[in-house]
Amino acid sequence: MIRLNEHYAKLKASYLFADIARRVTAYTQARPDRPVIRLGIGDVTEPLPPACIAALHAATDEMASRATFRGYGPEQGYAFLREAIAQHDFQARGAKIDPDEIFVSDGAKCDVGNIQEIFAPDLRIAIPDPVYPVYIDTNVMAGRTGPNVDGRYQGILYLDSTAANGYVPAPPAEPADLVYLCFPNNPTGAVATHAQLAAWVDYARRHSALLLFDAAYESFIRDPQIPHSIYEIDGARDVAIEFRSYSKVAGFTGLRCAYTVIPKTLTARDAAGAAQSVHALWNRRHSTKFNGVAYPVQRAAAAVYTAEGRQQTRALADFYLGNARLIREAMGRLGLKCVGGDNAPYIWVNTGRDSWEFFDLLLNKAQVVCTPGAGFGRCGEGHVRISAFNSRENVVAALARIAAAVK
Ligand SMILES: Cc1ncc(COP(=O)(O)O)c(C=O)c1O
Repeated sequence: MIRLNEHYAKLKASYLFADIARRVTAYTQARPDRPVIRLGIGDVTEPLPPACIAALHAATDEMASRATFRGYGPEQGYAFLREAIAQHDFQARGAKIDPDEIFVSDGAKCDVGNIQEIFAPDLRIAIPDPVYPVYIDTNVMAGRTGPNVDGRYQGILYLDSTAANGYVPAPPAEPADLVYLCFPNNPTGAVATHAQLAAWVDYARRHSALLLFDAAYESFIRDPQIPHSIYEIDGARDVAIEFRSYSKVAGFTGLRCAYTVIPKTLTARDAAGAAQSVHALWNRRHSTKFNGVAYPVQRAAAAVYTAEGRQQTRALADFYLGNARLIREAMGRLGLKCVGGDNAPYIWVNTGRDSWEFFDLLLNKAQVVCTPGAGFGRCGEGHVRISAFNSRENVVAALARIAAAVK
């Protein structure tokens, strides 16, 4: 008899963005005369940088001729891209990462979701709250949690990110085996200092734990004191995996390219207690279940590292950060405390009231869509996330409407 994975039944029935879409649709159907501005979902709005488009076109032309056509490529990614990544994203920052420690993929979402399957089912997982929901849901699906009771899954060690700790949780007193960290953070926009990340690396080394460091928003860091990679911290090579994505740095949300770094020095214990290479196991998994990213897409990703590509992607992030600054300033004028937005495209606003109530207020009175913080976890209650991913025109119009609605 065919039966289902019963762990899926534990997943919370309603999905945050589906709930939002339902309320927005109900509003727009009731008031078609009042168009809404969406500052909710974390998708980019600006087109691909010209350097990436040129590389995409050239590589597509190569595919049109027998002499230059390419079929299956290496599952881990082409050397031209892995070498550029190692050099520009890591070695240039003093982080020792080799090209063969990089696995190119079609998205950080898949990688952060899939990585847990190479680890034991009965691990103790530590996950921040609020959080990018993929970390939690994939562990629920894998059976690593009990049921959801009062908004929290039993068995997970939640790391509260609140105003009290500046939205950067410190390592807990108790041990955990697998720790998810995300900086710059989605949804709070908070960044972690060198000392804060060093405390996590130290924790992982003391407890033989593994850090999963999601740096999907790395390109928005402007403060020179903030590390861009976990591997800028001494000792991180032995305890951390890092995830990066081209989605936000170069607008690849619709093109799809990302990568995961697994240093060869990283080990985990087998059932007999012997240290085994995590890199070797992920390589086995990756080459069994994945057949590589499209060649033109990898060429487009490699163009990010050319002189023009670097200048264009920097300008792209600066544009969104300009939106973020306007949003922060507008929230300040309304007397609302917020974090994020200076090294991240998200602004986390402390609304001082129920987060869905504030969401409804902005939708109904300002026709602006934000994301209620409660959807990202219990600690998100009382907050909303405002995204800087939009045109300048829309951001300016939305802020004027919010100012009129919230007094
Ligand atoms: C924290 C975080 N990690 C990963 C992703 C997914 O990135 P990708 O588009 O590469 O799948 C997102 C996308 O919004 C994100 O917010």
